[in-house]
Amino acid sequence: MSSLSSPTAAKRTAEAKQVLGDNDRGTYTVPTARLYPFQWNWDSVFVALGWAELDLDRAWKEITTLFDAQWPSGMVPHIVFWTDQSTYFPGPDVWGTTNQPLSSGISQPPVAATVVRNLQEVEPRLTINLFKGIDRWHQWWHTARDPKNIGLISVVHPWESGRDNLPDWDRPMSTVDSSSIGAYQRRDLDMVDQTMRPHRHEYDRYLALVEFGAEANWDDQVIGATNPFLVADPGVTSILLRAERDLAWLGRSIGLDTAHIERRIERLENGFVQLWNPEAGTYCSLDLRSGRHADAGTSASFLAAYAGVTTHLDQLDHELGLWASACNFLVPSFDPRHRHFEPKRYWRGPVWAMINYMIAIGFAEVGREKWAGRIRQSTRDLITQSGMSESFDPITGGPVGGSNFAWTAALWLSWVNKD
Ligand code: GLC
Repeated sequence: MSSLSSPTAAKRTAEAKQVLGDNDRGTYTVPTARLYPFQWNWDSVFVALGWAELDLDRAWKEITTLFDAQWPSGMVPHIVFWTDQSTYFPGPDVWGTTNQPLSSGISQPPVAATVVRNLQEVEPRLTINLFKGIDRWHQWWHTARDPKNIGLISVVHPWESGRDNLPDWDRPMSTVDSSSIGAYQRRDLDMVDQTMRPHRHEYDRYLALVEFGAEANWDDQVIGATNPFLVADPGVTSILLRAERDLAWLGRSIGLDTAHIERRIERLENGFVQLWNPEAGTYCSLDLRSGRHADAGTSASFLAAYAGVTTHLDQLDHELGLWASACNFLVPSFDPRHRHFEPKRYWRGPVWAMINYMIAIGFAEVGREKWAGRIRQSTRDLITQSGMSESFDPITGGPVGGSNFAWTAALWLSWVNKD
């Protein structure tokens, strides 16, 4: 175990700065140069935490650039195609969106308000414009992604959850018809080994959902009512609930009325209980088309404390203990005791630094310092051992996916290695 000032840690710090610099495109940062050559929503927001350690102006710029791509509906897209790049598929032609700048047609977990609060606490620079942009985005989640008005936020594509090939999506995705998808060339496999990426049959269905949205002209009402995939996600719901609390704080800090935000907080607090799966003994995603819960927890189950929901804290504490006995590094993205656990396949097992960051914050806030400390230490050991990797194998600690990842670097600078 290295101390905060060890030579290895210093080497990793230099590397983290280098990775941020290499992925910097001036007004936004790409997740990693070839695999993901555009601006990704939640990557960018976490990366702002890293920039805040080096250059506060640049940190705010990262966020405002993202909001420059906000749609009239309030949606903030998951990818913004600021430039033309051939190394990524599917590009803007497949998404068939018309909003400028060109973007994908779905969103990603809304971490912006929480990170903006962090920046604001360092030095208050929040503009009314940015506040309103985030507020409209949050309202969009409640309206467009809770079509049944149940106080839970759903995703209409696995990519919208930010956790692409989670086993949770297997069953709901199995009903998605991909027979119209013709030949296409995946570009991810040119850069990352197949054993670490989603399968072909999953990719076909990802594309079928993109095609469905494009045919619906990305109309939220049509998608909410008829999209073949509609799953309430503990990840997005927890992240939004947390973000709403931080947005209310931001609003108060600049003297605005936040009653409407408090009402949205209450909706989610009331809805949250529906994610509890008594059979699995944890929070699980809920497929709104079939009415069934997933049968196991994911790393997002432990985000309840981060969301400020403390009802089942003892059970979650116990559950995490069982996970910790089944692997060497915390927190795997999926239950390491489950038959669908795969330690190297993307979101079916690997550890992700930014998820650890959020889980640790939540546990620390509810007084479970033991877990907060262990999770941070695990993240530290993983990055020390394997560098700025996309994610990490929870059994061996080895690097998984792409390398030179901006958000891993940003979290090293802003959290893992910070005194
Ligand atoms: C993958 C991840 C997603 C991330 C993106 C860019 O799609 O699942 O969470 O935003 O890559 O890094």
